[in-house]
Amino acid sequence: MIATLVIGGNALLLFGTLFRPQIIGLYVVLPYYICITLISSPQRDLGWAWKRFSQNFFVLVVLRKFLGIRLMINESLAEAQAKDKAQFVFAVFPHGANADYSSVINGMLYDSLPNIAARTRTLVATILFRIPMVREISLWMGCVDARRDVADRLLEKNYSLVILPGGQVEQIRTTHGRERIFLKRRKGFIRLALKHGVPVVPVYAFGVSDYYHTSHFAMGFRLWLLKKLGMSIPIARGLYGTLISPLPVPTTVVFGEPIYFSIMKPGSPTPEEIEMAHAVYCEGLVDLFETHKTALGYGDRVLEIE
Ligand SMILES: *[C@@H]1O[C@H](CO)[C@@H](O)[C@H](O)[C@H]1NC(C)=O
Ligand SMILES: *[C@@H]1O[C@H](CO)[C@@H](O)[C@H](O)[C@H]1NC(C)=O
Repeated sequence: MIATLVIGGNALLLFGTLFRPQIIGLYVVLPYYICITLISSPQRDLGWAWKRFSQNFFVLVVLRKFLGIRLMINESLAEAQAKDKAQFVFAVFPHGANADYSSVINGMLYDSLPNIAARTRTLVATILFRIPMVREISLWMGCVDARRDVADRLLEKNYSLVILPGGQVEQIRTTHGRERIFLKRRKGFIRLALKHGVPVVPVYAFGVSDYYHTSHFAMGFRLWLLKKLGMSIPIARGLYGTLISPLPVPTTVVFGEPIYFSIMKPGSPTPEEIEMAHAVYCEGLVDLFETHKTALGYGDRVLEIE
């Protein structure tokens, strides 16, 4: 939703430069692009998280109310985060047709996980940092570029990470009324956690799969485009049939118990260790899903792991 609004705003701005290139184009847009491409790349460093913004920016406040977003924190996570140097990899499912909710919850972490919120970053697609204003808003909400070197640096500096491992494949395959996630082949987040000796927290967002009515139109072609060009085209209808806003589906983001891997030793994990840890994570996520689904009104759903 936020991205759609801001991209629209930027399109208007660029359209404006066609008529007055000497003013906006030359003195504003060009220097801005030079600055963000050559000089300033906080998205590849520690980010630019801004607490007051992620808590109070009106679009976020409205979206939070509209979706009735609430976080449920497992008590052992609440205890663990209060310790000195606490650090986690939050692996969040599902991505949904639009993952705005994952940045929206950033501001809520200051209340729910107060000890680590200021040192938590969300990994998001590089493209967001190439669009003016989407870039700033993403940075202020605590997002950074989802590159391996960025993730490594943050974990080394005792930051926690929010990761949506399903990524764009899961986004395209989102199916209204079903809980489909793409996890079987997603192991990068496990390797990262093992390498740095950081516990992984399974997180499941109930409601997100139903934000939009989805379509499987030209699915093969869209998956091909994604694989070849890294371009994802979700076909989804939210409020009033548009992609601008999700349907008002009550959302509960459930944070499970941190998983401390018994084979955990910082360094380079072997493929077998990654395999085992991945299986443990999958089990933890399924448990989390099964534990909460009935109380949250999704008792008839099964978690489909692809
Ligand atoms: C926290 O996690 C443990 C282990 O999965 C579970 O037994 C417990 O019920 C959870 N607590 C809540 C409030 O969900
Ligand atoms: C991170 O934590 C480790 C041990 O827990 C400590 O040695 C190191 O100084 C910490 N680094 C920062 C930047 O706080």
